[in-house]
Amino acid sequence: MSWIQDVKNTRERAERLSAAGDLPGAAAAYNELSEIWLAAASQSFSPEDRRIRMDESLRNRELAKRCKSGISPVAPHSGGAGETPSNPSTPGNANGTIGKIRAQLSNDDIGKMLIAQVDGFAQTSSVTWDDIGGQDALISDLKKALASAVVKYPEGIKREASGDILMVGPPGTGKTMLAAALANSICLDGMTGRFYNVGLAGLKGHYQGNTEKAISLLYETARENSPALVFMDEIDSLCTSRGQGVDASGRAILGVMLSEMDGMAKKNSDPHASFVLTVAATNTPWSLDPALLSRFGENRVLVAAPAAKGRREILRKLLIEQGYQLEKESDLDWLAEDKQTAGYSGRDLRSLTSVAKRSMEMEMNPQLSQWKDLKEVAGTEVKLRPLKHSDFTAALKRVPPSITEETMTNFIRWCEDPNYRPTAK
Ligand SMILES: Nc1ncnc2c1ncn2[C@@H]1O[C@H](COP(=O)(O)OP(=O)(O)O)[C@@H](O)[C@H]1O
Ligand SMILES: [Mg+2]
Repeated sequence: MSWIQDVKNTRERAERLSAAGDLPGAAAAYNELSEIWLAAASQSFSPEDRRIRMDESLRNRELAKRCKSGISPVAPHSGGAGETPSNPSTPGNANGTIGKIRAQLSNDDIGKMLIAQVDGFAQTSSVTWDDIGGQDALISDLKKALASAVVKYPEGIKREASGDILMVGPPGTGKTMLAAALANSICLDGMTGRFYNVGLAGLKGHYQGNTEKAISLLYETARENSPALVFMDEIDSLCTSRGQGVDASGRAILGVMLSEMDGMAKKNSDPHASFVLTVAATNTPWSLDPALLSRFGENRVLVAAPAAKGRREILRKLLIEQGYQLEKESDLDWLAEDKQTAGYSGRDLRSLTSVAKRSMEMEMNPQLSQWKDLKEVAGTEVKLRPLKHSDFTAALKRVPPSITEETMTNFIRWCEDPNYRPTAK
């Protein structure tokens, strides 16, 4: 079914439920509708089209919220699938208002580009804690940090942590995945967390001095789509390397970011306010600005390269849980041993298993690379066999580990002492 048909059906369902007075049901349907529009926005190549779809996503999320709070929405849908809202230049949410910053920025071309960029950060993701292998202790830490942001403290007790989290660790260890799972685990008032995956490196330095505005717009958008998780990836790109602090543009962005984070920290435990959590990630924590670092307090977590037990679990997820069989079950333990996979990140293990699967599939199905007419292979079932020891030894030769012992030692030493700096090579 096309997404347009999906929109029509889901909207009809939402309106039917809402007319019948089933507001919780209508809320769920409007929320679904919001997700469909979001996915459609992320597939759109035209900035204008994307903006319209994002507005539809936001409007339906607002409708879901109204239903949740017991207000029946007076079906103000402005446009259907494939149609444009009645007046695309004045997008609005269910209350007919749009954020101040968004309204200001939509007046000029640079502003419109910033809006398109910020809207592009919203992602749908179905990652859950179960998809992540070998990080049980870390997952408890993340759950604890999230819980600490939503609980209330007795009168007179000062809150210590905001819930905002800094993840440090080498590339490919699952930081983005963990942030996505955390976003999906946020459920407040029946609404799941929206995930904003922000690539700071791509944002900084663009639009001459306008990046701060993008950050303000980002938080405004996240608040409107509350609950939300803002994932600031490559946070180190705001700072110069080797801990010389931040440059002028980084400083301006950082100022906005820290004040937005402070503002949200105060609101997050109020059930009637919007909820926005910030999670930042970096591969070079030693280059971070001290003001930024201190902002995360105790909520700094090391996402380390997995040890043998963790690697076994990740390999099991990538092989057995995906339906592949092993000729010898003991190969899973063998492959996870230090001798074979020390220094392999989760991403390296994914590449390793993909190479092994692919070569087995090509061996079993030579026609896949030899067809003349695609019809010969379309829809035919591929033949598979259990993976052999030799498939893995061949894959190990092709996919090297990406994390050296020295890299991991640097992270561990930095976690013990944030003044530690790795020696320059
Ligand atoms: N602990 C893990 N469990 C399962 N898969 C993992 C794990 N860590 C990494 N991966 C795999 O590696 C990919 C890259 O991980 P990612 O979250 O992007 O790492 P990072 O953000 O730290 O660079 C993931 O999409 C996933 O397929
Ligand atoms: Mg990442």
